[in-house]
Amino acid sequence: MTRPIARRVIILGAQSAIAEAAARRFAAEGSRFVLVGRDLARLNEIAADLRVRGAAACEVEALDLVEARDPRGRMRAWVDTLGGISLVLIAFGVLGDQEEAERDLHALDRLLAVNFNAPAVWAATAAEIMMAQGGGTVMAIGSVAGDRGRQSNYAYGAAKAGIGVFMQGLAHRLAPSGARAVLVKPGFVDTPMTAGFAKGGPLWASPDQIGAAIWRAADKGGPIVYAPWFWRFIMLIIRAVPAFVIHRSKL
Ligand SMILES: NC(=O)c1ccc[n+]([C@@H]2O[C@H](COP(=O)([O-])OP(=O)(O)OC[C@H]3O[C@@H](n4cnc5c(N)ncnc54)[C@H](OP(=O)(O)O)[C@@H]3O)[C@@H](O)[C@H]2O)c1
Repeated sequence: MTRPIARRVIILGAQSAIAEAAARRFAAEGSRFVLVGRDLARLNEIAADLRVRGAAACEVEALDLVEARDPRGRMRAWVDTLGGISLVLIAFGVLGDQEEAERDLHALDRLLAVNFNAPAVWAATAAEIMMAQGGGTVMAIGSVAGDRGRQSNYAYGAAKAGIGVFMQGLAHRLAPSGARAVLVKPGFVDTPMTAGFAKGGPLWASPDQIGAAIWRAADKGGPIVYAPWFWRFIMLIIRAVPAFVIHRSKL
């Protein structure tokens, strides 16, 4: 049996249900954490839970990850707090409202900033440090929504497609250094983000299923990891459907 690895983990958007499920797995290995999100009370609750589950240390910081100033400085400070870095997980995001994004350009701008600009900037800051140290994994959560533009969610989908290409390119750049960049791409997941959806059936995953995929991808695989794996084949088919067929649908 291989020994569990105690990692040094920074989670951006640590209140996310998917991130919390992943963090529990790393905590069981005795990892150390910096948890960043907007709600300090909730972050403290998650940190207490992770300590009970085996985390060696857990610092929290309340921060709006889109509005944050000096991302380089913040990332450096978190890495110093941990005494190094093994994994940066970029989990924050919003589904947004496609119709609002069509009406209101500020809403569109905001949706793209939360789901693409800010994750890309944070990934770039983590990558600099990992390149210099010659190892570590920077991981972002994308979405299968980024695999094909559809009328119901193409603003969110475009941002997720963008972060996918960014992480793929970053993985290429990092490869010679020994560091890695990974995009985990879930399908439907039962979390607060999908609270308004009718749930159930074989396509819906639990946060823990995606947490397990994140935990595995911390060591190997990528740069693009579908979660669960079968979405790779579903999206292969969806991408192959001709536009004239899609245009007759309400998808
Ligand atoms: N659920 C799904 O079906 C699904 C599918 C594919 C991909 N994903 C992706 O998975 C990731 C995690 O989502 P989830 O399903 O776990 O949903 P979630 O529980 O709603 O988590 C999303 C988190 O992002 C945080 N966030 C949003 N804007 C932020 C900001 N400006 N600064 C700091 N934190 C911010 C939210 O914090 P607040 O609580 O402060 O708002 C929330 O905790 C997201 O990137 C999402 O797009 C989800």
